[in-house]
Amino acid sequence: MSRFEANLRIPGPTPLPPSVREAGGRQMTNHRGPEFAVTLRRIVARMQPYFGTTGDVAILTCVGTGGLEATVVNTISPGDRVLAVTIGLFGDRVAQIASVYGADVTRLASEWGRVADPDDLRAHLEANPGYRAVFLTHNETSTGAINPIAEQAAVIRAVAPDALIIVDGVSGVGAVPFEMDRWGIDVVVTASQKAWMAAPGLAMIAVSERAWLAMDEVTTPRFYFDLRPHRESQVHGMTAWTPALAVVYQVDAGLELMAAEGAEAIFARHEVCAAATRAGLRALGFDLFADPAHFSPTVTAARVPDGLDWPSFRAAMEAGGVVLADGLGPLAGKVFRIGHLGSVTLGEILDAISVIEEVAIQFGLPVQAGAGVAAAQAAALDLRRGR
Ligand SMILES: Cc1ncc(COP(=O)(O)O)c(C=O)c1O
Repeated sequence: MSRFEANLRIPGPTPLPPSVREAGGRQMTNHRGPEFAVTLRRIVARMQPYFGTTGDVAILTCVGTGGLEATVVNTISPGDRVLAVTIGLFGDRVAQIASVYGADVTRLASEWGRVADPDDLRAHLEANPGYRAVFLTHNETSTGAINPIAEQAAVIRAVAPDALIIVDGVSGVGAVPFEMDRWGIDVVVTASQKAWMAAPGLAMIAVSERAWLAMDEVTTPRFYFDLRPHRESQVHGMTAWTPALAVVYQVDAGLELMAAEGAEAIFARHEVCAAATRAGLRALGFDLFADPAHFSPTVTAARVPDGLDWPSFRAAMEAGGVVLADGLGPLAGKVFRIGHLGSVTLGEILDAISVIEEVAIQFGLPVQAGAGVAAAQAAALDLRRGR
C-alpha cells in the first residue's frame, strides 16, 4: 500500500477507484438536460441486474438511513402492524424508524451474530397474521452475518402473502447475488458508499409494482421522501429534486468498472477476500463473531481478545496504514470489523492481515509471524481453485 493513502478497511465508505474519484471532480451539468438523462438511464439499467429486478430503481440524494426512512414513509401508515426481523444494529434501526412514524412494530430479534431462522419466522407469522410489512436486513454490517434472504422471503410469501417485504440491502446488494423479482421482494434499499465504490450521498431504492400500488393508500405525510415524484421524473430522465451530481457521476463511473469486471467476477472476488480475511484472522487466534454458516462476503467481525486495549490496537493499526472499523452499539470495544466490499482486492486483505499480525505481536498476543498471511493466501487459493 502507499505511504500516503491508508488501506481503508471499513465496511463503507469504501475506497474510491481513481476513475471514480476523478468523476467526482467533474464540472456540473444541467440535471434537467439530455446528458444527465442518458447518465441516469445508464445507471438504472446497470443497477437493475444487481437488484435482480426489471422494475424501477429510484435514486435519492441521501444516505442509506434516508433510503430506509423513505421506504417507511411510503409503505407504512400510522398504526400499521409491521414485523421487524432484526439480527443486529441496522435491523433495530429500521424498526426504530417505523416506530417513529407511528407503526405498531413487533421485533423478531435473533441473538447478534446469528441470522433469523426461516422456521422461526414461519412459526411467528403463522401465529401472528395480519402484518402490513416485514422488514429484513440482507447483510447485517454490525455483526458480519448475512441472512438467508431467499428462504426468508419464500416463507413470508407463503404464510403472509399480503405483507410487503422490505429489505435493507445497504451493505450487500452489488457485492452479493440478489434476486428481488424472483424472490418476491417489494422494496430494496442500498447506498452509494458500499458496493458501488462511490462517496456517500445517494440511496438507491428498487420498488416492485405491488409496492408502488400500496404507496397511494399510505397516509403518512411525506414530501422530499415521497418516491412517486421520483418515478414520474425518471420517465423524463430526471430525479425529482436536484441530485448530488458529483456522486451520480461517481456511481456512473463505478458501474462502468463493474460492467468491465462482470457480476460473477465481482461476487467471486468478494467471496475470495472474505475467505482470506476469515482465515487470516483465525490463524492469528481471533474468534470470528458471526455464525459460521452465515458469514458475510462483505464484512467480517472478530472478537477483541480479553485484555486487549482496542483503542490502542486500532491506533497502532492506523499508524501502520490500515484503518479498521469499531464494533457498533453494544459491541463497541468487544468486536472489530474489517470491510471487504467495493473495489477490494486480495492484496489489500493480505496487507491488512500482515499489519494486524505485526501489531498483534507488538501487543504481545501469541501470534506466529507470517501465520495470518499464509493462511489468508491459502484460503484464497483454495477458493479460486475450487471455482
Ligand atoms: C445494513 C446497513 N443498513 C443501513 C446503513 C445505514 O446507512 P448510512 O450510514 O448510509 O445511513 C448501513 C451503514 O453502514 C448498513 O450497513
